[in-house]
Amino acid sequence: MTETDLRERIARELAGARQRTGLLTGCVDEADLVAQHSPLMSPLVWDLAHVANQEELWLLREVGGREPMHPEIDPLYDAFEHPRSERPTLPLLPPDEARSYGHEVRGRVLDLLESSRFDGSRLLEGGFAFGMIAQHEVQHDETMLITHQIRAGAPVLAAAPPPAPADAFRLPPEVFVPGGPFTMGTSTQPWALDNERPAHTVHVAPFFVDTTPVTCGAYAEFIADGGYDDPRWWTAGGWEHRQRAGLSAPLYWSRDGGAWLRTAFGRTEAITPAEPVMHVCWYEADAYARWAGRRLPTEAEWEKAARFDPVTGLTRGYPWGEQEPDGSRANLGQAYLRPAPAGSYPAGAAPCGARQLIGDVWEWTSSDFLPYPGFTAWPYREYSEVFFGPEYKVLRGGSFAVSPVACRGTFRNWDYPIRRQIFAGFRTARSAEAETA
Ligand SMILES: [Fe+2]
Repeated sequence: MTETDLRERIARELAGARQRTGLLTGCVDEADLVAQHSPLMSPLVWDLAHVANQEELWLLREVGGREPMHPEIDPLYDAFEHPRSERPTLPLLPPDEARSYGHEVRGRVLDLLESSRFDGSRLLEGGFAFGMIAQHEVQHDETMLITHQIRAGAPVLAAAPPPAPADAFRLPPEVFVPGGPFTMGTSTQPWALDNERPAHTVHVAPFFVDTTPVTCGAYAEFIADGGYDDPRWWTAGGWEHRQRAGLSAPLYWSRDGGAWLRTAFGRTEAITPAEPVMHVCWYEADAYARWAGRRLPTEAEWEKAARFDPVTGLTRGYPWGEQEPDGSRANLGQAYLRPAPAGSYPAGAAPCGARQLIGDVWEWTSSDFLPYPGFTAWPYREYSEVFFGPEYKVLRGGSFAVSPVACRGTFRNWDYPIRRQIFAGFRTARSAEAETA
């Protein structure tokens, strides 16, 4: 990529992220922006100034060497200084000031970008710092969409339904992924974040994985079969949590006689049986898999299914190859406000035949969030390193709510196993040896 192309790509990604931020914060009134819709989430006005503050910090100060614009507000928008539940009590910038701060930072960043070189420092190499900031803002766009999902009140967001798949009824329920070594992670993707690095060889035993994410229809069978009331399907920790939290169906599902309804962005409708299930926590996903006589895939299995091409033995950037995601291959970027029916996006299929690995719903894996061998924290410990450990489970593949810039075959997300408000579902797997044993 030439410097001009890279400059244009950066400007395009930054503009796209800001457009979505503007939409998500422009469709509600001031009272809604400053309100806290759940102790799990920040007020939207916090996200608005926080993305600007991070952009100022990394691009204007670290890359550009500029003086802080408003040093007094830095601590307010430091995610590590104040947990989300505390943020509404802070003297946050009011919405109009948050917007003009973001506008001012962005203007200066675009000036900086004009004259910026993309070498000479690790932050500048390949435009990394700019790419990191674009990814950061779209991640907050997903966070803000979660806040919209939680928010009570009249609906303010709408989108057309995603296109229906043409051949889903002919798909096999599961596909085979051969055993052997493959390359996991990356050392070459210029905008890959620290936890995706470095590339390393991982040996995976042969396994089968679901062709598509588990659907609402299949999940409703688990409920109807008493899955929530049978401790056999749950781990000890999962059963304890299921009891304590009173789990009986995915978050946002409700009963209407014999039918299930779901509420999304302020609208209640019948569940769509063919749609991937979401708003289930890791414990629920794990219990469903055991009920189905299967298990969750490990993170390495997920990545091998998504990236390994058995014909060439090479690992791809995306299931379909190296091309950036577009609307024909994956449901990303909040183009639709829901996952597409299972079996959609044949053009986005992996070599093994699995579909919708990228986009639609984040997929829980059985793995804890751990560093790859040779990991080094970059450019700050609080991006990944402080989260490594068994408290967090890895999610893969991105959801309909995340933009392509922050979604690739190596991208890793993580959350607590009790977390349900995120746009997460799952698919199941089984070891191939079990068949011949
Ligand atoms: Fe952030």
